[in-house]
Amino acid sequence: MAARITASLTFLQHILAEVLRPGDLAVDATVGNGHDTALLARLVGPSGLVHGFDVQAEAIESAGRLLAAVGLAERVRLYALGHERLAEVLPQADHGRAAAVVFNLGYLPGGDETRVTRPETTLAALEASRKILAPGGVIALACYGGHSGGAEETQAVAAWCRSLPFAGWRVARYELINKPGGPIVAFIAHKLQGGASTQNASGVSLATD
Ligand SMILES: C[S@@+](CC[C@H](N)C(=O)[O-])C[C@H]1O[C@@H](n2cnc3c(N)ncnc32)[C@H](O)[C@@H]1O
Repeated sequence: MAARITASLTFLQHILAEVLRPGDLAVDATVGNGHDTALLARLVGPSGLVHGFDVQAEAIESAGRLLAAVGLAERVRLYALGHERLAEVLPQADHGRAAAVVFNLGYLPGGDETRVTRPETTLAALEASRKILAPGGVIALACYGGHSGGAEETQAVAAWCRSLPFAGWRVARYELINKPGGPIVAFIAHKLQGGASTQNASGVSLATD
């Protein structure tokens, strides 16, 4: 079964498939129904590990069912907690080891539309992600402008991404500009190895110019 980031953002899937390797550590910061978690779990393989966060216990339960159904539950640890707590929750040994941290922002389609991600906690989680990211790792975000507060959150994420120093980071933005109901914007923040190397945590070469 093919997992998805969102039907419209296969772009992020391609990047993650390029970056993640068997044995890697990854974080799904917004688990929802677990589709993205399943994608990450597949990419890191049986020797890898995915930590997943969501504030809604129902989402964690739903994701747990999906992961069990597709035989991926053993490589995933799920937390019914806000992603802003991820650095405090992850074992110290995993700090600096995550090859990817993934955010699919907004609300859970088909769920409670008032339980949206919010700029304050998203920005706190992005700062926490910096602490746990491996050199060569990526932070991948999908942002939605169509719901209340979505445009402001996209702007806050864009400003955070822009503030990352060029000496150690490369950040790309990809936008679906013709989507009815508001744009979808993806950001990929790539933390360079040693500030200038071209390889990710798994030794995959990435362009740095
Ligand atoms: C667009 S959905 C994620 C979709 C999910 N990745 C999937 O594959 O089904 C956004 C999710 O973020 C969750 N969320 C909202 N605030 C959060 C927070 N502070 N920390 C973690 N998750 C949060 C919501 O409960 C919702 O499930």
